[in-house]
Amino acid sequence: MKEFLAYRIFESNGRSSGRLEKISSVDLGINDLFVKVEYSAINYKDALAATGQAQIAKKFPLIGGIDLIGTVLESKTDKFRDGEKIIVTGSGLSETLNGGYSEYAQIDSDLAFLIPESISTRLAAGIGTAGFTAALAIYKMKINKQKFSNEKIIVTGATGGVGSFAILLLNKALSEVIAVSSKNNCINYLDSLGVKDIINPSDIKDNESLLEKALWHGAIDNIGGDILSWLTRTVRPHGNIASIGLASSHDLNTNVMPLILRGINILGISTNINRKISEDLWKDIFCNLTNDDIEKVITRETSLKDLSNHFDRYITGNNYGRTIIKIS
Ligand SMILES: NC(=O)c1ccc[n+]([C@@H]2O[C@H](COP(=O)([O-])OP(=O)(O)OC[C@H]3O[C@@H](n4cnc5c(N)ncnc54)[C@H](OP(=O)(O)O)[C@@H]3O)[C@@H](O)[C@H]2O)c1
Repeated sequence: MKEFLAYRIFESNGRSSGRLEKISSVDLGINDLFVKVEYSAINYKDALAATGQAQIAKKFPLIGGIDLIGTVLESKTDKFRDGEKIIVTGSGLSETLNGGYSEYAQIDSDLAFLIPESISTRLAAGIGTAGFTAALAIYKMKINKQKFSNEKIIVTGATGGVGSFAILLLNKALSEVIAVSSKNNCINYLDSLGVKDIINPSDIKDNESLLEKALWHGAIDNIGGDILSWLTRTVRPHGNIASIGLASSHDLNTNVMPLILRGINILGISTNINRKISEDLWKDIFCNLTNDDIEKVITRETSLKDLSNHFDRYITGNNYGRTIIKIS
């Protein structure tokens, strides 16, 4: 097999950085699925890994890209057949395992999920880690008795990948969705996803109170820090806050009053969950989202060659929607 293109993360002087290069199949290692990668995407974590803003990769060199979508060329397991379309998200890709920024991949079949015939690999990449994480947050809130229907649910980092899918999925659950977004130029985008109202974080007043007026039945937080702290003080009794991300800060400074007087719940969201739950979630996602829904969130499509020009927008918080990477 000829050499092919991959975007790999290297380490130099304790800092990681990525670059495109030609590699051979030997560099992929061996696994039970040999895959022709068709699409990947950019997630906040991918931008951190590629730019060295955080040490995401734990071994070097490692192919970046936490989303991998493609077609099985050769299966050594009866779990998948040659020609089937698969998706892998997270699962250690770009941390300890080679990720999706490569024309070919060797994948452990335990990490792969079947994409139904009705969904193209392009649309599956549009969903990726972002859509899966949003669905997981809603699933965990539901287990914890969040009703959603006719409830006000607030979503922070709303124009991001996770935020956008959270809005779409909350609308399907008949919630009234309030977006927190710093982007005044994305009002039309957020409207198209179905938000009822938009709050700019700069309009949220710093308040020293231990509790504030209870406004939201629940919350999905992608940014952490002061906004997450404010959510703890403004969620209604017994409401859930799904804590997903740290785009603003990894800090959480709050007090126990919301917990002991209102019984609010802070639910940690980690995508390291058991396979059965993941399988059920993927089925739900593929079934609930229409092609039009997903197309709304795909705001850019680029190539492996152009990939490195897109990371900064994520680091500075200037991206909106999902950027998918057409690999082959
Ligand atoms: N727990 C998990 O398993 C898991 C899985 C996936 C993602 N995540 C985390 O979830 C977060 C969102 O991921 P994503 O892929 O949706 O990222 P993304 O597409 O880059 O979106 C992040 C959004 O957060 C807001 N934002 C960015 N930088 C900010 C800053 N400095 N201060 C305040 N707001 C900022 C922006 O939204 P607005 O301009 O609209 O405010 C931005 O669009 C990230 O922290 C990511 O690491 C966690």
